Amino acid sequence: MASAVETAIRGAVGTGLAALAGFNRGRMRRVPNPWMNGVFAPLKDEVTLTALEVRGCIPEALDGLYARNGANPLGTEHQPSHHWFLGQGMVHGVRLKEGKALWYRNRWVRSTEVSQALGEAPAPGPRHPRSDVANTNVVALGGRTFAIVEAAGHPVELGPDLATLAHNPFDGTLTTPFSAHPHRDPETGKHHAICYEGAPNGRVWHVVLSPDARVERAEEIAVTDGPSIHDCAITDKHILVFDLPVTFALDRYLKGYRFPLAWNPKHASRVGVLGLEAPGASIRWCAVDPCYVFHPANAFEASDGTIICDLVVHDSMFATSTSGPDAEQITFERWTIDPAAGSVARRVLDDRPQEFPRIDERRTGRQHAHVYTAEIDLASVVATSRLLAHDVAAGTTAIHDFGPGAMVGEFVHVPRGPGERDGWLLGFVAWPAEARSALMILDAADVTAPPVAEVRIPRRIPPGFHGNWIPA
Ligand SMILES: [Fe+2]
Repeated sequence: MASAVETAIRGAVGTGLAALAGFNRGRMRRVPNPWMNGVFAPLKDEVTLTALEVRGCIPEALDGLYARNGANPLGTEHQPSHHWFLGQGMVHGVRLKEGKALWYRNRWVRSTEVSQALGEAPAPGPRHPRSDVANTNVVALGGRTFAIVEAAGHPVELGPDLATLAHNPFDGTLTTPFSAHPHRDPETGKHHAICYEGAPNGRVWHVVLSPDARVERAEEIAVTDGPSIHDCAITDKHILVFDLPVTFALDRYLKGYRFPLAWNPKHASRVGVLGLEAPGASIRWCAVDPCYVFHPANAFEASDGTIICDLVVHDSMFATSTSGPDAEQITFERWTIDPAAGSVARRVLDDRPQEFPRIDERRTGRQHAHVYTAEIDLASVVATSRLLAHDVAAGTTAIHDFGPGAMVGEFVHVPRGPGERDGWLLGFVAWPAEARSALMILDAADVTAPPVAEVRIPRRIPPGFHGNWIPA
């Protein structure tokens, strides 16, 4: 996204300021970037590992690929101005079939820069004019697999072995930015996303993909200041737009930083409620205390006309750090959004720092009871060894602790039977100090039980962003 933002700014504020930003970048003190070192140090190679050691029993019903995307810089980046969210995409995957783990692979998503570094011809397909990095999520859309990113950068289609097939803006139907977080309405099979440009402008879009992954709606919504809207939530009737005070920051850009988004206390903090098929101008805005949300878990309509949303809330974001997240407090909350009153009531469900909330996505937009999150250590901004399983109906939290030295990632729910707890939870756990990792499979019906299976990966997998189960 670095070049994306720069190009947008050149168009918006002129080449003179871009030159000033470049000059200031060159004068930056040569300090190492925390997100390119230590546990975040990028991997330098791609491997295919077979004959993986398995503990426990991989369920035979799991026929598919668990894949997770994340930033893995090439190592040649200018460290003082780098931001964690800007590194080249690398997807890690484990293929499961007939109770066996067939392989682990890690593959860079082929941006032009990655292809050049690896001595390969550029991957085919049209490039987004501002960036061709796709580092944030890997999703199944319309029976295909895409690496995706917000703000700028087209979706990149991947093969079943994680090879880059082509940069593919949904067969030419995508004419706006996209998002790393499309949400599938289980009734219609359509995916909904809120998409922003990462530039100083006054619009975002509600983008809807048909079940075969073609854009069928790109509805403009008016905003100010160029807010960063990472994710959204849907109900069966509405989409929620988290217009919160992290916005385009010209001063950071001029200082030379490549990620010019920052906390902006002057930006009104609000949640928009828009009908799934309604004109953008009909959006109803609801004021909320200043805070930032990367990830809602889910939302649903209440019988009294309000909308309930469970989500992870950061007290602020990018207020001081120019290289990564910097909240001082993170809470798991339930928001009651009242479009008639234009208000949001907040209630803390759990005050442990945590992130990456996921649910049984058959409940997307409908009332849910179970939310799974990774506990976060605020000081280091990496996950602890604990996966939290919230029962928001009962008001309880069960914990699976993977033990000393473990770092959990996002866990995804894979359905097994009809009930919300009737499924498996899959995710990567890493032991950085021991240079090993594992794909863990837990039973959602009892997360405190020992793992159903553990696929051992004799490599360090650095902390990353989002993953999904992609059925064969
Ligand atoms: Fe995200």
